[in-house]
Amino acid sequence: MTTRTIRQLTDAELHGRRALVRVDFNVPLDDQGHVADATRILAALPTLHALLQRGARVVLLSHFGRPKGTVNPKYSLRPVAARLADALAPNPVQFLPVSVGPEAVAATQALAPGSVLLLENTRFHAGEETNDDALARQFAELGDVYVNDAFGAAHRAHASTAGVTAHLRPAVAGLLMERELAFLGEALDRPDRPFVAVLGGSKISGKIDVVEALLPKVDRLLIGGAMACTFFRAMGLETGTSLVEPDRLDMARDLMARAGRKLMLPLDAMVAPSMDGGAHAHVVPREGIHADQAMFDIGPETITVFAREIADAKTVLWNGPMGVFEKPPFDRGTRAIAEAMVQATGLGATTIVGGGDSAAAVAEAGLESRLTHISTGGGASLEFLEGKVLPGVAALDQA
Ligand code: 3PG
Repeated sequence: MTTRTIRQLTDAELHGRRALVRVDFNVPLDDQGHVADATRILAALPTLHALLQRGARVVLLSHFGRPKGTVNPKYSLRPVAARLADALAPNPVQFLPVSVGPEAVAATQALAPGSVLLLENTRFHAGEETNDDALARQFAELGDVYVNDAFGAAHRAHASTAGVTAHLRPAVAGLLMERELAFLGEALDRPDRPFVAVLGGSKISGKIDVVEALLPKVDRLLIGGAMACTFFRAMGLETGTSLVEPDRLDMARDLMARAGRKLMLPLDAMVAPSMDGGAHAHVVPREGIHADQAMFDIGPETITVFAREIADAKTVLWNGPMGVFEKPPFDRGTRAIAEAMVQATGLGATTIVGGGDSAAAVAEAGLESRLTHISTGGGASLEFLEGKVLPGVAALDQA
């Protein structure tokens, strides 16, 4: 079974009808309150254009930040509406500072074909995160068909991502959702081989389920980031003041025993006395980390070995930075992985970045367009890779 998408909707289901589209416009703002990174807004455009072209009237729902069920102007979607209007011009975009109730329903009914209405933050209602049925019913009154394009929020069983579908059908996936599920799902189920996964980030505890899920599927699992230090400690190496999770040492030992040669850990490390001590950064073999130093990035030998594995791969999946990439010189490992993936893409590999910090690093390096797919989901892509059912997807019609 596959999730039904807007492609399978008939013209009668769309023409002149209100398409209620759940998007993930949870985007960062700059100091002036303008959208700082429009990636998620732009990623929703194919769905919005497709619906508008088929004569639908488009009503958008999104969460924004974590206002915890209260109205807070800091979390208004108004600046997002302005950025969306730029992106969708000449199609008009209206913004309404409420998301349910008579005023919202009337605005959806008055919406002209070819126009878009963005409603206020769904999380201004306490019932959104508790998946309250009364709120879900109110959301359902805003459309004639429901489209979920919010992959980034699909791991949340909320009123606007899950509950609403009990009251509004058809309930289908948008094109972004379809693309995310296709790339991430394909990599897991039918990867071209060799299939190499690169995992980083600070804690093994946050990634353990992904490691477990990927281990049987991959040909190589490359581990960088501070989480490598928990493995180092488990190997009996000195890790200095590096971030280590002492309660995960047995887990790390068990993983190494089961993974055998599939698992590759860094051979060297970029260390410094502190994260702000970039001026004192230097490279040591992994056996040479001093008691007063911490690992903040992978070293050059590791970069060479990891890059070679990536170059030989036909599918590469990456989640999590190799070091503290926000603080040069500790960005080198993460950048090198991004560049190795660009080269692999050029050689015909499918290269996928699983969202979150690694996606931010790729964007910062300006390499987004040179990889096959960069997920717009952080937590959602992680849960998908863990093999979990995403409630926002499970709630949709199956074709
Ligand atoms: C995200 O930014 O990962 C999504 O928009 C989900 O946001 P949340 O973690 O606040 O649910």
